[in-house]
Amino acid sequence: MIGIDAIDFATSRYFLDMKNLAEARNVDANKYYVGIHQEQMSIAPPNEDIITLGYAAASQLVRQYDSGKIGMFLFATETAVDNSKSAGSYLHDILNLSDKCVTFEIKQACYAGTAALFTAYDYVSTHKDKIALVIASDIARYGLHVPGEATQGCGAVAMVISHNPRIVSIRKETGTHSANIHDFWRPTARSEAIVDGALSAKSYITSMKNCFKDLQNQTGITVKDIDYFCYHTPFGKMAIKGHQHLTGRSESDILESLTYNNLIGNSYTASLYIALISLLENTHKDMTDAVIGMYSYGSGSVAQYFLCDVIKGYEEHIDEEGHKKMLSTRKRVSVQEYEKMFTATPGAANYETSGKLVYTGVDDKLRRQYVLR
Ligand code: CAA
Repeated sequence: MIGIDAIDFATSRYFLDMKNLAEARNVDANKYYVGIHQEQMSIAPPNEDIITLGYAAASQLVRQYDSGKIGMFLFATETAVDNSKSAGSYLHDILNLSDKCVTFEIKQACYAGTAALFTAYDYVSTHKDKIALVIASDIARYGLHVPGEATQGCGAVAMVISHNPRIVSIRKETGTHSANIHDFWRPTARSEAIVDGALSAKSYITSMKNCFKDLQNQTGITVKDIDYFCYHTPFGKMAIKGHQHLTGRSESDILESLTYNNLIGNSYTASLYIALISLLENTHKDMTDAVIGMYSYGSGSVAQYFLCDVIKGYEEHIDEEGHKKMLSTRKRVSVQEYEKMFTATPGAANYETSGKLVYTGVDDKLRRQYVLR
């Protein structure tokens, strides 16, 4: 049995309330609250990046393990900071991982977190005495005054994949669907994504139906065999629509999985796994042996449907109190402050970061610099 032995997440220390964005953009607040089902979004200051967020998610987690056991470290992101060097290489060093630990980055829009999870699964299945670390970390940026602006956010998830996991086991049968489409893309010179919103929403749904059907053809499973559902969550309403299309049931089925993403916004690769943590921490009843359906979608596109089984005693290995405190102690920013952070040169700035790691900019040879505070 292979699955998630430990899981944690982080987001930035700042958030924007959707009603303030609505006021500034002359939009009815209910378009954001109800129409896209989003309450707040986390804002990354210029000294926070995918590496500092990834550190905040992983730093407590890796301390639980002998670092010599971590044989593979995968960093999943849409928000790559270098066209060559893996974001994981920085954290490999800062997290004191072994020099035998293979580290690399995985990209396929929001799907990359799942690609990393299943690569880790395969690695662990052939290396019985090893475990793997996965970090999925992203800062969703579409731009100021564009429709996608209300669906930004940021967050990182860290997961340890092992035999005999303590939180959920992962079933190896999965349903997949790929297609070459331009629904969301970000050419290398750009820091903001380009998106065809209507096409992306359509592809999210059709890809979900296709990959669920693929899983169904292999296993005979139906939605009635699934107890709980988690979705990639670019914004709450997208997950709700996905759920309605898949099951014909109402949004009340999945509200617990949306609680955290509703406050964080889109975190691309991390969002499905933040939904999983949210479900486990906000469903206040024993979920032992429950089957969770997981839908992963990455524009471009790749989609995968897979199933997890909840392990007895899982609740001792999640941190509801810590996560709720982290979210409730974020600082509210005005639209003016958000725009200042959004347009600032990345690096040198004195804002709080999610963990102890701070990005301080590049040196004269464009090498990224970090300090541990
Ligand atoms: N009260 C209640 N609802 C309201 C309202 C009001 N006053 N005003 C509008 N609405 C509703 C609309 O009816 C609409 O609902 P439906 O979708 O159910 O019809 C909803 O609010 C949104 O309104 P619009 O469609 O007019 O919004 P928009 O065109 O300004 O932008 C968006 C919405 C297309 C999602 C845009 O934010 C966007 O492009 N976001 C990025 C793309 C994205 O996240 N796509 C998701 C699938 S791709 C993916 O999953 C990968 C990824 O992470 C990017």
